[in-house]
Amino acid sequence: MTEQWQQDITKWIGNGELLQATLSQPRRKDAAMAPKMIIRPIELKNGLYYQFEYHFSNKVTHDNVAGSRAAERVLGLLQENYRQALVKTPEADVQLLFSKKGKAAVLKKPPTVGARPASLQHNRQKQRVLAEGKAAPFLVELGIMTPEGHVHAKKQDKYRQINRFLEMVTDVLAYLPKDRELTIVDFGCGKSYLTFALYHLLAIEQQRKINIIGLDLKADVIAFCKALAEKLGYEKLQFLVGDIAEYEELQAADMVVTLHACDTATDAALAKAVNWGASVIMSVPCCQHELFKQVSSDALTPLLSQGLLKERFAALATDAARGNLLEVLGYKVQMLEFVDPEHTPKNLLIRAVRSEQQELSMKKWEQYEQFRQFLNISPSLERMLSGRWPNRASQ
Ligand SMILES: C[S@@+](CC[C@H](N)C(=O)[O-])C[C@H]1O[C@@H](n2cnc3c(N)ncnc32)[C@H](O)[C@@H]1O
Repeated sequence: MTEQWQQDITKWIGNGELLQATLSQPRRKDAAMAPKMIIRPIELKNGLYYQFEYHFSNKVTHDNVAGSRAAERVLGLLQENYRQALVKTPEADVQLLFSKKGKAAVLKKPPTVGARPASLQHNRQKQRVLAEGKAAPFLVELGIMTPEGHVHAKKQDKYRQINRFLEMVTDVLAYLPKDRELTIVDFGCGKSYLTFALYHLLAIEQQRKINIIGLDLKADVIAFCKALAEKLGYEKLQFLVGDIAEYEELQAADMVVTLHACDTATDAALAKAVNWGASVIMSVPCCQHELFKQVSSDALTPLLSQGLLKERFAALATDAARGNLLEVLGYKVQMLEFVDPEHTPKNLLIRAVRSEQQELSMKKWEQYEQFRQFLNISPSLERMLSGRWPNRASQ
């Protein structure tokens, strides 16, 4: 890539002059890589972002990247994935072409887009997986939408949460096998708004062959979910009463979801997911009490001597350890904001996708060991997966 082009793209993105960019001509055939990408600026609550739109043959997915990180992302995509870029700025349409030998050519043409749109307001309505105005039967049954497709005022938060969850799932669907029926487990499914939503997205909208199992300790809640699945005719959605740690019915699963399962129930779910070789894990932890009782470090006395700070820190340390352990095992892990923090503090989503190389990462393990020793902790997930770690079996 020419140095000038790298400088230009960084400047256009930094100054908000990039109006649209299209990346095309993939460098290799790879089902996980979209043949084309379109990048546009969008104004979100936190400022200027860029929306990366992945155009697959059968679907379009989105990812929003902060303005400060967008140039690096575009440059990385061009280096790794695409051989052509067309960038539209108010001054010019600029095309970058790489030859097969890697030589870059830059072509400038008069601009086809005059100016920055008056409003960059992000049209969430258009993007929502479950659009208002189109009644989804499960949302009507769960009292979120009217039969005409209007969202009840008091259910707006729940509706946003369901859509957010589906967006986050959509972004990682490419990691799931495409050639057979998928098995998905939702541990601690509760009233199962999100389990029904997942079924609706995959089985009804996308017509995929799937089998979803929702498991929860509460018999009355499971009876409600079973009755609703039957009413909706969701034949491949089963609900079972049981404890996550004791669930032994499956040999393998493709995706494990566990949203707000309390304390170490999340670890039990993550351990099952790993042992089943799940390609995708979506976990929103909650009530992370375990490490609160363990964490100690003289150097952190100012933090740990305040109960409230210690509680928050222990929760973050719990999830950091979980993420790191998944990385040791070869998962790519992202920590994402699940819903707006003003609605609930329990808003961290651990999204993990299994990489093709299943090698243990020594570097991540060493990182984890240092972290664990520094805080004097012994997280459940490490113990539940003992025997999987490098060097030695865990205690
Ligand atoms: C806060 S609710 C969340 C429900 C749903 N996943 C959601 O996010 O809307 C947590 C659920 O996890 C269930 N749960 C907690 N520990 C569990 C365990 N060990 N095995 C199965 N279910 C569990 C509880 O019964 C409860 O219904």
